[in-house]
Formats: sequence, C-alpha cells, structure tokens
Amino acid sequence: MRGQDLYRRAKDIIPGGTQLLSKRPEMFLPENWPAYYASASGVKVTDLDGRTYIDMSIMGVGACVLGYADPDVDRAVKRAIESGAMCTLNAPEEVELAETLCGLHPWAAMARFARSGGEAMSMAVRIARARTGRDMVAFCGYHGWTDWYLAANLGDSSGLDGHLMPGLSPAGVPRGLKGTSVPFLYNRADQLKEIAEKNCGSLAAVVMEPQRDHAPCPGFLKEVREIARKAGAVLIFDEITTGFRMAPGGIHLIHGIEPDMAVFAKAMANGYAMAAVIGNADVMQAAQSTFISSTNWTERIGPVAALATIKKFIRDGAAVRINSAGSMVQNGWKRAAKMAGLEITVGELPSLAHFIFERDDAIALTTLFTQLMLERGFLAFNQFKPSLAHEDKHVVAYLAAAQECFMIIGEAARAGEVESLLKGPVARRGFYRLT
Ligand SMILES: Cc1ncc(COP(=O)(O)O)c(C=O)c1O
Repeated sequence: MRGQDLYRRAKDIIPGGTQLLSKRPEMFLPENWPAYYASASGVKVTDLDGRTYIDMSIMGVGACVLGYADPDVDRAVKRAIESGAMCTLNAPEEVELAETLCGLHPWAAMARFARSGGEAMSMAVRIARARTGRDMVAFCGYHGWTDWYLAANLGDSSGLDGHLMPGLSPAGVPRGLKGTSVPFLYNRADQLKEIAEKNCGSLAAVVMEPQRDHAPCPGFLKEVREIARKAGAVLIFDEITTGFRMAPGGIHLIHGIEPDMAVFAKAMANGYAMAAVIGNADVMQAAQSTFISSTNWTERIGPVAALATIKKFIRDGAAVRINSAGSMVQNGWKRAAKMAGLEITVGELPSLAHFIFERDDAIALTTLFTQLMLERGFLAFNQFKPSLAHEDKHVVAYLAAAQECFMIIGEAARAGEVESLLKGPVARRGFYRLT
C-alpha cells in the first residue's frame, strides 16, 4: 500500500507524522488506512494506489462543506491566482468579506482575518484580553493548539479531559501561564458562575462552542451570556467547526444568543486556508491597541474562496441538504444497530453526525467498521460530516453497506472475535507520541 509506505517515511521525517492529529491514520485504521490522496472531487477520493472511495467520514475534517474541489469555488480561486494571489497592495475582497460576515451576523460590526482556526482563536483571546486589561479565560470544549488554551493543563494534566481531547500535553507552554485558562463543562452554567464569582475583576473572556454534541439545556446559553456580561468578560463563540453547517453563518444564529465575538475557519472557505474573527465594534477596536499582524493573512485566495463558498452555501441552500443527509445517516445508523443487536448512542447534531458503540471495546468495533467499509469502497468512521455534494444515492449506498457491516460486527462482538477480524491494530484516539 503506497499510502502506508509513504506514512512510514513521514514518521521518520515529520514529528507526529502529520500536521493534524485528526489526520493520523492510526485514528482510523492503523497500518491499513490509505493515508494520502492523489485527488479528491465531490465526495470521491482517490488514493495513491488509484483506488477510489466515497468519503462518508470527515470530509477534510469538516472543511469541505460544499464537497471536494467545488467547481464554483475553484473557478473563483483560479481567477484570483491569475490576477495575482499576493501583492504589495491589499486584496479588496477582504473588505467585501468583512461586510458579508457582518451582514450575516448583524450584532457584529468588524472583522479581522487569519488563515487557521487555532491562530484565529489566539487572536480573539488576545483582543479580549487587550479590551479588558485582564488575563483569565473560562472555557469549555476544544479550541486549538496554542498556549492560551493548553495553559489549562499546566499543573493539572486532566484540565482538558472532557473537552474533546483528553491528555493534551502542555510541554513547552510557559509555566507562568498556569491558572490563566480554567475549564467549565457544557450545560453547567453553575460552574461558569462559580469561576466568574471567584475571579471577580480578572475574567477577560468566556470561550465556548454554542453547541457541539449536546443541545443546550433551556436557558443555558442565555445564562452564559448574562454571566459574561455581569463579569465584564468578552463572550467568544468558537464557530470553527459549527459555522456554515447548520446555517449560513454561526449556529448561534439559530439559538438567538449574541456573543461579543465569533470565530470561523474550516467550512467558511471550503478547505482553502481562511479564518475570521468578527465582533462588536467596542471589542474589535481593541485589536488596534495590540500587535496582531501577519504577511500571509493578506493573500487573496482565502477571502476569494470564502466569498465564493458563502455565496454558494446560501444560493444552494446547503444547510438544508447537509442537515437532511446527516439526519438520514443518523437514522440509518440507529436502524442498522437495532437490527444487528448493537447498542449505540447517536449525537444530536445532524450536521456533525457521529455515533458511539456502547461497549468497553467500542474503539475496536469502530476500527472494524472502518476496515469493513473500506473494503466496500467507503472512507468511513464513527463520524459523518455531510456536505452539499452528498446526494441521497451516496447516503443510500453507504447505509446499505453500513447495515451489512453492523451485522458482521454484531456477530463478531457476541462471539468475542472483533480483534481477530482486524487486519491491523485497534485504532488509537487522543494525543500521544507516535515514535
Ligand atoms: C471548535 C474548534 N476550535 C478550534 C479548532 C482548531 O482549528 P484549526 O485546526 O483550524 O487550528 C477546531 C479544530 O478542530 C475546533 O473544532
């Protein structure tokens, strides 16, 4: 397998093997995941051995919301390349994109841009700290690789457990940041309230995704909004994964709660490098009182791709299609599990669909699912991030194959034979050293 051969070379020369934990082949199917792509278009991915799969997994880690190599976005990008992707002067599309994002989120008045989610979150937290003159951040969930966030694991290495990525190591993060980032759990406004009361006058920001695995309890987001306001802290909604999936813009638009800032990346430019921090004028003006500046934030492809993506997302009603494909898959998983005698839990958001086998050896079962689905021509995992390119015919074919695989898994699980059916090791999740 050429992909696995290349990955072995990669592990010798690239620490960690890949640039993103979630793209490590060990996360899916150790020793047998195709690992690299030769080309991708629509929902089809061709690997280095020339095998083509339908991607019913994470679609570029949630970035390719319109499908791979979307012709409309790519046409706009090619035009941008032909007219010069970089210049001494600024790209005019920046202004149009700022106006578009603020138009979609009427509570926001200004925008700044970056090129990846984690750096945009760092920018947002810096602006919030500059605005308030305070250091401390209360957060919930995963927000990227940078120091402000990993500081939560200084001293207590379990600080980030329960926030999507257990075991993230803060090695290399200055010890002096200890105590500057404090976690609270989703739907636990009482925990946030306690942090805010204990740190009266030092809380700079409250950072969270408005929704991820669970729907907010009635009144939760409203209470968070009130706690942040009362504490004089900036409320930052991280919409890097939730934005431009459920709705044209942030998922907070559906919940009707206005933050002070919101951060977008991933889906906003269909996989081209682009990220945005939007906010109300009062908070965003603080970006002028601190130094936030980078050469590659001024290139033209990102804003052009974002404008084309947003335009098509709205024109083609992508949110409706994404939610419908996600719901079909969620219901199909439930049916298939019932028929196979397997207990699964299915996450609530159709646009970020996922399931968990309710067993201690859940990861072994998921590994087997990936292996069996790969043999049937699908990139599959226990997550499905739908895109506009996923048509009913893809979903129907996928569910027929998934049903067959669940039956095999159910029988293997009852016979205690799951691991013996695997052609390689069980997948590994979370953060750990590779070599
Ligand atoms: C909610 C959330 N915030 C931040 C990030 C980090 O974004 P990036 O990987 O673009 O740095 C992610 C990535 O998965 C995310 O899901």
